[in-house]
Amino acid sequence: MSFDAHDLINLSKYPIHQEGDQRDALLAQIRSRLKFDGCAVLKGFLTQRGIDTLASEADSVADKAHRSYNRTNVYFSADDETLPPTDPRRRFFDRSNAFIPADNFMQTGALRTIHDFDGFDSFIQACFEEEKFYRYADPLADVIINSAVEGNGFPWHFDTNNFTVTLAIQNAHGGGHFEYAPGIRQGSENFEEVGRVLDGTSDKVSVLELEPGDLQLFRGRYSLHRVTPLVGDRPRYVAIFSYVEEPDMVGNPERTQQLYGRTLPIHWERAGRRADSYID
Ligand SMILES: [Fe+2]
Repeated sequence: MSFDAHDLINLSKYPIHQEGDQRDALLAQIRSRLKFDGCAVLKGFLTQRGIDTLASEADSVADKAHRSYNRTNVYFSADDETLPPTDPRRRFFDRSNAFIPADNFMQTGALRTIHDFDGFDSFIQACFEEEKFYRYADPLADVIINSAVEGNGFPWHFDTNNFTVTLAIQNAHGGGHFEYAPGIRQGSENFEEVGRVLDGTSDKVSVLELEPGDLQLFRGRYSLHRVTPLVGDRPRYVAIFSYVEEPDMVGNPERTQQLYGRTLPIHWERAGRRADSYID
């Protein structure tokens, strides 16, 4: 079965492939959202058929997800016993991930039909106004699906990469709200306010309810963010598209093994060329 991107993406609302006034207006709107608080959501980016076919595709390979667990603070840094126990750098949370690696998605499948649609990458690049912008060349990680169920956690953190591009496919029955404190560490680490966010007493937190079919562009390096705990037995599926600042980049073998449960020869061939994999 093959798909046509025109059936999957709502191109009449989001004419990402057609130069012109409508695309320009859309870009202006997204850029201003990104400047305002680092987050832009293209509601209803997918058609209903796009949502349905992506959800079936995710279901069909859900058993290929690799689950990993760790305990981390919001900075992904090591514990520092010289600091007081209340310091945000000393507050650790359980984090669990289940990623369906990229090589489970066929070229002719719905997810890659969207990703490979002419104009998709260049539109995203134009939204972020990034000069150095390349698809991640990692065959396990260029586009993946995060699958999460009740009990999985996406606790508060800052991203280590400059931006993320995610597409909501299916929500859990409950929970799963995206919460973020825009620009909370722009200029300084602002540990006091970060602590208040962790305590649930900050008034700097915005909440988003993303629905299936929504495309989210987010700059998470300066904005503390999390996904609230999921409720119910339906898995939450989110596709993650990865772009990096240099061509031909792949993840390092250790991180790849941790996130995807396996490595490929290319990870070892390229080992040493870089230190991280841009999926936080
Ligand atoms: Fe993040």
